[in-house]
Amino acid sequence: MEVPAGSVLLVILAATLSVAVAYDPLDPNGNITIKWDVMSWTPDGYVAMVTINNYQMYRHIMVPGWTVGWTWAKREVIWSMVGAQATEQGDCSRFKGNIPHCCKKTPAVVDLLPGVPYNQQIANCCRGGVVPAYGQDPAAAVAAFQVSVGQAGTTNRTVKLPKNFTLLGPGPGYTCGPAKVVPSTVFLTPDRRRKTQALMTWNVTCTYSQHLASKYPSCCVSFSSFYNETIIPCAKCACGCDGHKPCVRSERDTKRLAVAGKHNEHAHGRTHAGGAAAALLQCTTHMCPVRVHWHVKLNYKEYWRAKITLTNFNYRMNYTGWTLVAQHPNLDNITEVFSFDYKPVVSYGSINDTAMFYGLKYFNDQLMEAGPHGNVQSEVLMRKDARTFTFKQGWAFPRKVYFNGDECAMPPPDSYPFLPNAAPASLVSFAAVVVAALMFILAWA
Ligand SMILES: *[C@@H]1O[C@H](CO)[C@@H](O)[C@H](O)[C@H]1NC(C)=O
Ligand SMILES: *[C@@H]1O[C@H](CO)[C@@H](O)[C@H](O)[C@H]1NC(C)=O
Ligand SMILES: *[C@@H]1O[C@H](CO)[C@@H](O)[C@H](O)[C@H]1NC(C)=O
Ligand SMILES: *[C@@H]1O[C@H](CO)[C@@H](O)[C@H](O)[C@H]1NC(C)=O
Ligand SMILES: *[C@@H]1O[C@H](CO)[C@@H](O)[C@H](O)[C@H]1NC(C)=O
Ligand SMILES: *[C@@H]1O[C@H](CO)[C@@H](O)[C@H](O)[C@H]1NC(C)=O
Ligand SMILES: *[C@@H]1O[C@H](CO)[C@@H](O)[C@H](O)[C@H]1NC(C)=O
Ligand SMILES: *[C@@H]1O[C@H](CO)[C@@H](O)[C@H](O)[C@H]1NC(C)=O
Repeated sequence: MEVPAGSVLLVILAATLSVAVAYDPLDPNGNITIKWDVMSWTPDGYVAMVTINNYQMYRHIMVPGWTVGWTWAKREVIWSMVGAQATEQGDCSRFKGNIPHCCKKTPAVVDLLPGVPYNQQIANCCRGGVVPAYGQDPAAAVAAFQVSVGQAGTTNRTVKLPKNFTLLGPGPGYTCGPAKVVPSTVFLTPDRRRKTQALMTWNVTCTYSQHLASKYPSCCVSFSSFYNETIIPCAKCACGCDGHKPCVRSERDTKRLAVAGKHNEHAHGRTHAGGAAAALLQCTTHMCPVRVHWHVKLNYKEYWRAKITLTNFNYRMNYTGWTLVAQHPNLDNITEVFSFDYKPVVSYGSINDTAMFYGLKYFNDQLMEAGPHGNVQSEVLMRKDARTFTFKQGWAFPRKVYFNGDECAMPPPDSYPFLPNAAPASLVSFAAVVVAALMFILAWA
């Protein structure tokens, strides 16, 4: 693809600047905690319940799910697990008779797939490693498994905490802190009439950084409006044009590339649980897997309406349980959202100008693979805030957009459909709407 070198540099610069900060101002307390509760001591170790809580407002863990890893402090082994499994057994040749489930110094553990026999399950397990965002479904934003550890300490003074926790979910991006002993968790018995407590508890906190996850954004934003027929497309190479990523030019291309892609997958794909399939993108100037289009659709006296369309350009991915976060000063006055669910994202010290959108269950909570069904859309009706509302200077377009918790590349600064000069500033009349609509129709006729 021929692109002026300067613009590529600019885009890369812009992309780097926007994702370099690990701290997420829209979700300052977002993290994932991994909690180990020792439930019993055994002759050579302990049995622990491990609970993974996703406290991130809008970043879920999608297919192929989480992988949790750590390094044992001494020569610990995993005798058995319930609700999850280590991806490799490792070298257990020093054992006779009972063979452990895993003897590796650095085990990697993944969730079981749905539908495993009942006796291999525990609460909150077995969802293929998929964990919703806390803001989307707080009750389901948790995963758990049980691990029986051998050749370990057998009292709270001799047990050594595992070190160097890692969390993949489903790609890189998370960094985990050290395990810390915290006050023992208190549990309520099922009849809620008695409290029990863990013999010992330790916590690990993991935080996400988009910069660590990938060099380029994974989505981009485009703009259009009713008052100007110009469409501002996604920035060129917004998601990187480097490498010789094959891309699909036509439907007929899909099959050929799908076959070629299989080889790629074996070479680069992750080995566990099927692995994240390498993207197979439709050829676009932006080369992003996902585009978010914001159209300023209608102007009423007291309200205005924006249409949001998400388009999937990846032939290898159905984004199940997708989330969209948008920041715009008028989002604190949402009156109605059509065909998406939404929640305000309120973070301490910031104004209430951010909203999270997500699909309706069984209707559009899945953004289908690229193709005729690879899009979802919604309209948002907002009440004008008289002090700030204007169509001038691109005010009606979002300031920031996140898809699945990753910040999307915005069009270059100062590119937005201009309000025609003739129109009075903030009062585009009904006549102007009609004129603009006519212009639009004429332009396409
Ligand atoms: C992790 O998130 C929880 C919930 O938002 C918060 O209470 C806790 O302070 C966070 N932990 C860290 C280390 O940021
Ligand atoms: C440990 O993690 C649990 C659950 O993830 C959380 O409720 C608790 O507040 C954490 N404790 C500390 C001291 O961070
Ligand atoms: C921690 O894990 C990382 C990545 O798995 C590895 O590079 C590093 O050497 C490990 N550190 C220790 C102290 O085991
Ligand atoms: C260890 O157990 C003793 C009692 O056996 C208790 O007093 C102590 O608080 C425990 N320490 C921790 C860190 O849980
Ligand atoms: C996406 O979902 C559709 C329908 O459920 C299925 O036919 C298709 O194979 C899925 N595609 C991928 C890449 O998983
Ligand atoms: C934020 O805005 C939403 C409506 O968009 C409203 O329901 C919510 O109460 C507001 N929260 C605060 C703290 O202002
Ligand atoms: C918009 O929301 C803000 C904050 O929630 C509120 O103070 C203001 O009155 C609202 N404006 C309108 C026009 O509803
Ligand atoms: C529409 O917006 C573009 C900039 O995006 C501007 O160049 C053009 O003049 C505008 N058209 C009208 C009719 O104002």
